[in-house]
Amino acid sequence: MDYGQAMSCQGWHGDIQCQIMAPEEVQIGVEEDGLACPEIRRWAETKYRLISLYDELFASGMKYKWNQRVYIDLYAGSGYGRLKGTDTILIGSPLIALKVGNPFDKYIFCEDDEKLLEALRVRVKRIAPHADVTFISGSCDDNIAQICAAIPRASATNKVLSLCLVDPFDFGLKFETIRRLSSSFIDFLVLLAVGMDANRNQDHYVDGNNQKIDEALGNSEWRQRWKGDTRTNKSFMPFLAAEFSRSMQTLNYLEQHLDQMKMVRSDEKNLRLYYLALFSRHQTAYKFWDDVLKYGTDQSRFVWE
Ligand SMILES: C[S@@+](CC[C@H](N)C(=O)[O-])C[C@H]1O[C@@H](n2cnc3c(N)ncnc32)[C@H](O)[C@@H]1O
Repeated sequence: MDYGQAMSCQGWHGDIQCQIMAPEEVQIGVEEDGLACPEIRRWAETKYRLISLYDELFASGMKYKWNQRVYIDLYAGSGYGRLKGTDTILIGSPLIALKVGNPFDKYIFCEDDEKLLEALRVRVKRIAPHADVTFISGSCDDNIAQICAAIPRASATNKVLSLCLVDPFDFGLKFETIRRLSSSFIDFLVLLAVGMDANRNQDHYVDGNNQKIDEALGNSEWRQRWKGDTRTNKSFMPFLAAEFSRSMQTLNYLEQHLDQMKMVRSDEKNLRLYYLALFSRHQTAYKFWDDVLKYGTDQSRFVWE
């Protein structure tokens, strides 16, 4: 099965076969509603802009090619976030996905913090009362069987394609969770938060017994590869991102080079924070991703408040 003609769009305003919201229409600023609203940092805007563009392209481009399009948010949050030091509230990734021009047929939102999930439930009911949404409370890793079971069953007459957002605070994702999901037709948009703690704790991870990176990459051989690289200018952050791509290749995903990942930096000290990377088994998915990287960096095209 391939993506077929639906992926033939050549650009945001190109010969796309379906309606996609123009970037100018992407509105993610909202009024306070009194529910849980964690603080977010300025650079989250970049993340939301890129995710929003990809959600739009995916949901619209796949609409007529698949019977069911499923959106999965493994680290869903509460749906709202307040920009640190401001009164500005932005909608988070699950609500961004609900607001696309051609909504997904099914949504699965998992969140570890029950209070945040409850706020998300209320907001979803208000914003998209008719959407088909499964809420899963608890760790996405512990509840992976429930998440997989919520994905509609595919058959010869019911083609199902999922897009899964993986957006943890740090490099604490578990590759086993990705592996379990990868048995279905599924693309992953992964926030590789390798700059935040992996960089700072490099020696601890390389020489100690800490399993965090082993679990994120799904192997422990990365240590030999890191130690075997004798270049004096080697850097841990791009190394880990490349290692994650290598792990995805073991699941038959196409290799993603660093220049195909979006590097996001902190606005304060211009520190490298994370890479946002797309993983698909089909080259054509990267046409959408190329457009996201092209248009998603032009901030003047967006309305945030
Ligand atoms: C960076 S926030 C992402 C929020 C959301 N994706 C957004 O951008 O609007 C990470 C969220 O994951 C939740 N979380 C942390 N560990 C988790 C886990 N193992 N499974 C599910 N959720 C988790 C946290 O409570 C937090 O709300």
